[in-house]
Formats: sequence, C-alpha cells, structure tokens
Amino acid sequence: MDITKRPDSMERITTPELANAFIEEQIAEVRSQVGDKKVLLALSGGVDSSVVAALLIKAIGKQLVCVHVNHGLMRKGESENVIEVFRNQLDANLIYVDATDRFLDLLAGVSDPEKKRKIIGAEFINVFADEARKLDDITFLAQGTIYPDILESIKQAEGKKAVKSHHNVGGLPEDLEFSLVEPIKLLFKDEVRVVGEALGLPHAMVYRQPFPGPGLGVRCLGAITRDRLNALREADAILREEFDICGLAEKVWQYFVIVPDIKSVGVKDDSRYEGWPAIIRAVNTTDAMTATIEEIPYNILHKITQRITNEVEGINRVLLDLTPKPTGTIEWE
Ligand code: XMP
Repeated sequence: MDITKRPDSMERITTPELANAFIEEQIAEVRSQVGDKKVLLALSGGVDSSVVAALLIKAIGKQLVCVHVNHGLMRKGESENVIEVFRNQLDANLIYVDATDRFLDLLAGVSDPEKKRKIIGAEFINVFADEARKLDDITFLAQGTIYPDILESIKQAEGKKAVKSHHNVGGLPEDLEFSLVEPIKLLFKDEVRVVGEALGLPHAMVYRQPFPGPGLGVRCLGAITRDRLNALREADAILREEFDICGLAEKVWQYFVIVPDIKSVGVKDDSRYEGWPAIIRAVNTTDAMTATIEEIPYNILHKITQRITNEVEGINRVLLDLTPKPTGTIEWE
C-alpha cells in the first residue's frame, strides 16, 4: 500500500457542505487520473467500498465496473441489498458472482480459525481475479482504503504483531497489475460516513455496523456446515431486526450472533430436540482494541430468545456473552 500522510492542514469533514466540497474535488481528481479508462472495484457492500463505488459512479459512470462476490458468508439479505442499491438505484455496472459453493466446499472440515481466514482471503482473490481476467481493458483498481488502514500498515511495518490476521483482500496475482484509485484514503471512518450520506447512499448502508471480511465464517465456529451456517444467518437476522425495532441498533457499535459447534439436549413439541445454542454478543468500542458490553434490557432478551428458539431450525437455546475485550476479542475466532 502506498503510505501517505494526512496533511495537518486537512480539515475534518463533519458537515454535508464539507463533504460536497470533498466529493467535487475527488471527482475532478479521479477524472484526471483515469481519463477514459476502466476502473475495477471489489464491492463488498461495506461502508468503505460502497462510498468509493458511489463516488466513482458520480465521477466516471459506466467506466466503473463493480464486482460483488458473495462468498456465502454474508448476512441475510446483504447481497440482495447491494444489487438493489447499486444496480437498480444507482444504475452501476455491477457483476454479481455467487461463489457460495466454491467457498463452502473449500471450508468443509476446516476448524482452525486462522486456516479458515486464510482460505476465505485467498479464495476471495481467486474469484475476483477470475472475474477480472474475463474483462478487457481494465487499467485501474479502486480500493476503499481509509486512513486507519494506512496507520495500521505503518504499525505493521514497524513490526507490531496483530492478534488475528484481519486482511480482507491481499495482493492480486502478478498478471493483474492495475494502478490504484483510492479516493478516500485520507479519511477517517466518521468522515467516510458523512461523505456517504452526501452521496445519497441509504442511511443503513452508511451506518452499517462493522462486519469482518470473513463474514459469518468466523461466527460459525469450527468447521462450517451449511445447516449451522443457515441457522446462524437466520438467528442473526432476528437479532438485527429486534435491535432495529427497539432502537439499540443506533446505539450499539457491534451486535451479532455466534453459533458454536456443540449441541445440547432440549425439548420441542414434547420431544427431545438436540440443537445448537445461539450466542448473542453486543459490544461498544471506539477503536476495536478494547470493548465494553452493552446492557440489553431483559424484556428484549426474552423476545429475541423466544423468536430465535421458535423460528430458527436447529437452535434450542440462546446465551448471552458478557465478556469485555480483553479478555474476549470481539469475534470468537
Ligand atoms: P477482534 O475480534 O479482533 O475484532 O476483537 C476487532 C474488530 O475487527 C473485526 N474483525 C475483522 N474485520 N476482517 C475484518 O475486516 C477480519 O478478518 C476481521 N476479524 C475481526 C471485528 O468484527 C471487530 O469489529
């Protein structure tokens, strides 16, 4: 990554006016950088890549080619939402790749968290590279690099060790050499959000809670199976729905469900019912280095428990994780 320092004179983008000025400046810069050439972007649907996509659609329209890879580890409705917003509403040039089988076949039987992360990261590059090779005349690769990513890579260059390998997209193979377009690389996350809103992206997309690159893969603990992954996705969707209804979604930094690879004995319809537990985790943090626990009112926990155990096939208990970071990390893997 090209390490660039944010100039001390750069004003913090806190208002729509400042965001609009930034957008105009970047549109001019991107146009002069890419001319009439094509730009490729891996569009995950996360805040950063979504803001880059919206900005580039404004700057260069159909010269931008977005590729959305569904690795089968997305949350419920997420890929559909990317298609709706970018293809249907913003008229983007969007290639949708459903690579679920490729990922889940490779992950079958793999239980080591770091191995899972590496497989997901490497396969993501393989799928993306396969798509890139099918396209002609792509000169540039756009990336949603933001300033904390640059600061993190400086830290790593100084030899500081990470607890987990967080890389989502590593380097592309050598036959795919692109020049980089990184229009938000000097922005902090809060600024990216202000810019996203000024670009007209949906509020839910701009304020989306952080979601790890390996997706539900690190929340479906141990070796992933399709049935347990589906149970996790459904339980997580219920948690998100209930947090939206009671207003916690606006307040809590990150909230999600984890489903471990253990079963306990339960009872459903008067019969023995062996199922997995769904574990709820809701944390607050400013920098993800430490985190505290959000106190969820009991009536909400009861409602979520009732819905998950009634509606999700394979789940017979709901548990709550009360561990701050440290000693727990935010994700369980
Ligand atoms: P941990 O689990 O290390 O997580 O306390 C800190 C924050 O990072 C997110 N996370 C990831 N993000 N790729 C990402 O982009 C990853 O592989 C990854 N693993 C964890 C986690 O969701 C939390 O916000």
